[in-house]
This record gives sequence, structure tokens and C-alpha cells, in this order.
Amino acid sequence: MSQMLFSLLAENKLSEKLIRYLNCEQGEVVLHQFPDEENALTIKSPVENKHILLLVDLDKPNQKILTLIFFAELAKELGAKHITLIAPYLAYMRQDKRNSLADSLGAKYFAQLISRYFDSIITIEPHLHQYKTLDEIYSIPSMALHPTTQVAAWIKAHVDKPLIIGPDAGATEWANQIAQIIDAPAIALQKIRTSDREVAIQLPPMEKFKDYTPVLVDDLISTGRTMIEAVKKLNDIQMKQATCIAVHGVFAGNAYEELLASKVSKVVTCNTIKHQSNEIDLTELITDYLKHN
Ligand code: R5P
Repeated sequence: MSQMLFSLLAENKLSEKLIRYLNCEQGEVVLHQFPDEENALTIKSPVENKHILLLVDLDKPNQKILTLIFFAELAKELGAKHITLIAPYLAYMRQDKRNSLADSLGAKYFAQLISRYFDSIITIEPHLHQYKTLDEIYSIPSMALHPTTQVAAWIKAHVDKPLIIGPDAGATEWANQIAQIIDAPAIALQKIRTSDREVAIQLPPMEKFKDYTPVLVDDLISTGRTMIEAVKKLNDIQMKQATCIAVHGVFAGNAYEELLASKVSKVVTCNTIKHQSNEIDLTELITDYLKHN
């Protein structure tokens, strides 16, 4: 089945690179917004009997989800055989637990919605903490790719004597994997989040790491509070200025500026969401998977 790649609401440069690497056709879709802010779209390219790859940036998902669903409905009406959603950043995954049965469970509901309209999904480093695999909530074939080697390579090339730090329990395993690749030490911090913007961080004993460069690694930065509180603690004990690395730079509000102002050496993200901090290119992570599957 021949492939056609559409880029919808995707502001990053990934789509151009994907087309080049995959050597597939590029589909054209035109979006229109009516004066009352309702959306419409027109698929200009022939999709009949094709395998459609739909690349979409899923940050700020509420503004995008209807367009996504309309695209899937229309492409199927026009005869598309299979639609793979490529969402480098998969939204709603952090809503993976609830305090009471009266709370909504966004990760599951979002997964059910996407599974209804798409035939398969590819994403990068989704927030798999409560769920061990996407299969627990997505009923379509899913693939979670991990940019561990790419992040490790960036650290090796740019940081002298790195100490890899997972800022919370969820990031510990990933921090250890990165550290192992580059033969660096790794530690985990303890984090307690009491609200969206309130985070308390505790450091383990740090004496033996005094001459290392702290490198905080996490799956995403949203409010920035996790990174900012961790950096404060490291600065309090006169560690070298930290480098903060996240796969997804969600950066809610002024998070990026606030993080920079907290005396970090550098903030680096992967290009899953377009941002000035994108320094780690994950195109090949996606194309390698697509070429072999
Ligand atoms: C939490 O489990 C995640 O891995 C991140 O640490 C967290 O979502 C970051 O959020 P924020 O930037 O709002 O502290």
C-alpha cells in the first residue's frame, strides 16, 4: 500500500524531513476557519487505497482535536485504507490517575477517542507511569519510541563530566538508562507535588558529586516547577550550573523564561514540539521505525 504523509497542525520541521527520509508522497490539506471559529478542511490529494501518515503536534490538544477527527472521517470517506497518527508528543498522558471515582481519567478517555478514529499510533516517550504500555488504554496498534540514545549522545557531546539526575521517581529509570550509555553516574531526587504549580524537591547526599555537572532529564517540562525547584536545590549547595533536558518542551505560560531565570546553564528539548530550545532531532527515530515496520 503506498504511503502519503500529511502534516496537520504540526508547526515543526519534522514533516519535511520525514518526507525526505521516507521518500513518500506529501498530501495537501487546506484548513479553513469560519468567522464563528468553526473549522473545516479540504483534502486536496487523492487518498484512495493509501496508507495515510498524519503528523500532528498534540500540544494544546483541545484546540486541535476536532480538526484531527474531521480529517480522519474525511480521509476514510475518500477511501483511505489505513491512517497512522504520528503524534511525537502525546497529550493527556499525565492524566493517568484519579483521586476519587468522581474525577475524570483523561489519558484513558483521550486514548479511547483516538482509537475510534485512527488505525494505529506512533509517539515518542509518552508519560507511561501508571500505565506500563499504551496498549492498556489504546485499542489500536501503538508504538512508543524512546529517544534515550539521542539524548545520551547530546549529553556526551556537550557536557563535561555529567551527573545524570532524574528529578522524580518517574524519571529515575530513564536517567539510569542514559547514564549507562555514557558511563556517567546517575541519581534520583525525591519530588512531592502538592498542586499544579507547587513542587517540593529533596536531594540525596551530594558530596561525592561536587565536581560533576548536573544534567536534569525528564520526559517533559510543563510549568517548569519540577526543574526550577531541582535547580534551586542544586544551586543552594553550590553545584555547577545545571543543564535541563526534556523530551517535550510543553512550557505552559512563561515556564521557559522562568526556568532560564533560575540560573541554569542551558535548557534543551527534542523537536517533538516546536520551540527555540529544540536541539535534539528525533526525525531518524521515527523514520527508522517506519522503514522497518
Ligand atoms: C511528572 O511525572 C513528569 O515526568 C514531569 O516531571 C512533570 O510533568 C513536569 O511538570 P512541571 O514542569 O509542571 O513541573
